[in-house]
Formats: sequence, C-alpha cells, structure tokens
Amino acid sequence: MKKFTLTNTVQSKEDQEKQLNLKKAGEIPEHIAIIMDGNGRWAKSKGSIRLHGHKVGVDSVRDITESCAQLGVKYLTLYAFSTENWGRPSAEVRGLMRLLVSSLRKEAENLHKNDIKMVTIGQMEKFPKDCQKELQEAIDLTKDNTRLQLCLALSYSGRWDITEAVKKIAEHVKEGRLDPALINDQMIAEHLSTADVPDPDLIIRTSGEYRISNFLLWQLAYSELYITKQFWPDFRRDELYEAIESYQSRDRRFGKINNGEDEKGLSTRLLKNKKK
Ligand code: IPE
Ligand code: IPE
Ligand code: MG
Repeated sequence: MKKFTLTNTVQSKEDQEKQLNLKKAGEIPEHIAIIMDGNGRWAKSKGSIRLHGHKVGVDSVRDITESCAQLGVKYLTLYAFSTENWGRPSAEVRGLMRLLVSSLRKEAENLHKNDIKMVTIGQMEKFPKDCQKELQEAIDLTKDNTRLQLCLALSYSGRWDITEAVKKIAEHVKEGRLDPALINDQMIAEHLSTADVPDPDLIIRTSGEYRISNFLLWQLAYSELYITKQFWPDFRRDELYEAIESYQSRDRRFGKINNGEDEKGLSTRLLKNKKK
C-alpha cells in the first residue's frame, strides 16, 4: 500500500496501535463533520493575531484529514467559512481567502497522491476568482479518488442549503412536473448540496460553544454531537480519537427503542456502536 504523506511524516507505531484499537473497539463513523472553531481565541491566548490562528488551523486540517483517511472514515466535511463569516472585518476575510489559495496550491497534489477526493458545498461564486480557480483545479484533479471524500463547506449555511433546495423543488412544481403532495423528506434531501452524501454520523465542534451556527441543519437530524473545549489549532488526531471513542459509547436509537432491548427495557445486546 502507498505510504501516506499528507503530514509529511511516517506514522508512528504508537499511532498505528491507537488506530487499530479504535477500529477494534467499535464502529468508525462513516461521515464526520466538524465545526472548526476557536482559531481567533487560540491566537489571542498566544498573544498573536487572528490570522496566525487560522494558519495553524490548516495544520489541524491536514492531521485530521490524514488520520480520518487512515481510520477508514469515508466522508469528512469541514465547516471552513460560513455565510455569516462574510460579515467579519475585510482584512480577516481577505486573509482567509489568501490562506485558502495558498493551502490549496500546496495540498492539492498531496490530496491526489493520497487518493482523497475534494469537493465543496456553498456559494463558491461569491469567492474571489483566484480562489474559485484553485478550488476548481483541486476538485478536477481529485475527482476520481475514492479513499476519502473531503468536503469543504465554504460560504455555506444550512438555511442557504435548504432555501436552494426549496427553490429547485418549486421550479419542478411550477413547470408542472411535480405534484406538491409528492414532496417528502427524501426528495428534499436529494435537492440539498449534500445529495450524494450520507448524513453525518458524528458532528464535532471545537472551542466549547454549544451551538450549530447554521451548519448542516437538515442533515444533522440524528447526528451524534461532540463538543470539546479545545480550540481548533489544538485539535489533532489524539483529540479526534477521543471524539470517536465518545461516539462509540453512544446508543443511537433513531427514535426507536434499542434493538437489543426487551419490553422491560432490559438489555439483551451490547450497544450498537460497540463491537461484541
Ligand atoms: C473558526 O475560528 C474559523 C472561522 C470561522 C473562519 P474563529 O475565527 O471563529 O475563531 P474564534 O471563534 O473567534 O476564536
Ligand atoms: C462557525 O464558527 C463557522 C465556522 C467554523 C466556519 P463561527 O465562529 O462563525 O460561529 P459563531 O459566531 O461562534 O456562532
Ligand atoms: Mg468562532
């Protein structure tokens, strides 16, 4: 098998062992989505400017992407820039765009070599032309890769996503191709920007905020939530393993009762996410 080189380091024996144990302990989430928050506060705590936090945050992106690929996660969705983030001071927005361009230039080839497919969700057309070009090149270069799908949510918001889906469905009705009585949740999901992707199993938010901030509002209906105090630049693979361990201890019932429970509520089986 190809050596994985996204972080340009050889994976340590200790890390291999940790990943193996995690895989043995239970189910690895198929889709992890992350609200990467706290770059500014991290920078402030170091007496540095906010942009420095965003830059170190890119190292976390690399480490988390690599470890997800190694673990066999199939989809990783990263909330990198929200619709509301356009309201930040223009110097910060410009800095973030520049960082995006330079990171894509550096990483696209590496993603490709490691069989990672990059896609985006959000209003790409709002981005500066050079950003759009870099993004499109990375998307085109990696389009046939299958190991992991890395999705960057850029100028994204859950309400925008749902609004766009509603507009598309309304067009079908207007053109007489759809009876409104046939609209159901599956049809709505198929018109979202995430149509080809299973809903996230696990949503992680860093920096200790207990909110969703307009992320995947429709898709998170039954996602497990994990919130950690760590700021994003400090969130690396060991913190990811902790999040997955927490996921493995959850009992996902999807509104039903546990499969392994009898009518008295007595458990006849181990939790779904835990392996026997
Ligand atoms: C997350 O970190 C990155 C983006 C939203 C682009 P923040 O920039 O929100 O950092 P805090 O939350 O202000 O510390
Ligand atoms: C959420 O973080 C958006 C991203 C991580 C891209 P914010 O920093 O924008 O969210 P709030 O303002 O704390 O809700
Ligand atoms: Mg923030």
